[in-house]
Amino acid sequence: MNVVELVNISKTYHLGKIEVPALRRISLSVAQGEFLIIKGQSGSGKSTALNLIGAMDLPDSGEVHIAGRDISKLSDYHLSLMRRKHIGFIFQSFNLIPVLNALENVAYPLRLQGICGYRQKAEAALEQVGLSNFMKHRPTELSGGQIQRVAIARGIVSKPDIILADEPTANLDSETSAQILELLLQLNIQQKLTFIVSTHHATVMEKASRVLELKDGQILADAA
Ligand SMILES: Nc1ncnc2c1ncn2[C@@H]1O[C@H](COP(=O)(O)OP(=O)(O)OP(=O)(O)O)[C@@H](O)[C@H]1O
Ligand SMILES: [Mg+2]
Repeated sequence: MNVVELVNISKTYHLGKIEVPALRRISLSVAQGEFLIIKGQSGSGKSTALNLIGAMDLPDSGEVHIAGRDISKLSDYHLSLMRRKHIGFIFQSFNLIPVLNALENVAYPLRLQGICGYRQKAEAALEQVGLSNFMKHRPTELSGGQIQRVAIARGIVSKPDIILADEPTANLDSETSAQILELLLQLNIQQKLTFIVSTHHATVMEKASRVLELKDGQILADAA
């Protein structure tokens, strides 16, 4: 099954009178279990594409299907339900809540949804990212790589259909970046989670099941 389907989507930003085309007639299908890398120069449209796939924004034209549903006709409320149910986000800037410890940060999205057994689920997710011994640590008491692992655990804890990560290692040194990307690949293989990740990191591209290259808002190459 395709978890994501973009059909001929375009998106243009307006800066006063200036039009900035960010995506131009893009079509893309992503199947369950894929590890898709999106690469391309700065300004090529990677973040715009991820925002549309994540139902954070709507295209000017074309269709976005997530888990089989066309999201263009959903209200803001139903869009947010769609995001919660189907999509996990891993942000470049981590976005953890500073006053909560690792366990509470990971459990937070589950508690919001009133899901039972959130504590055990959060513990299991933290174990999967190698942080069993750091559950009680707050973000200020963790390294950058550990903070990103907490953010990954939070992104995977509800077992979403798609996990989106926009340059998840941009704020990490190169060795830690390699470890974090390796962890995402492992989660893809072991947990069969579907990832769409934008990155410039060369080594992960060799291991990803598919690499999509954007240029000026269009698909330049799509290599499996
Ligand atoms: N909110 C916005 N308002 C106006 N223009 C925007 C906005 N967001 C993005 N753009 C423009 O859209 C184009 C695509 O931007 P996007 O952020 O998707 O690129 P990117 O590939 O993620 O770049 P980077 O590697 O620098 O993150 C660029 O020309 C950018 O300037
Ligand atoms: Mg970007």
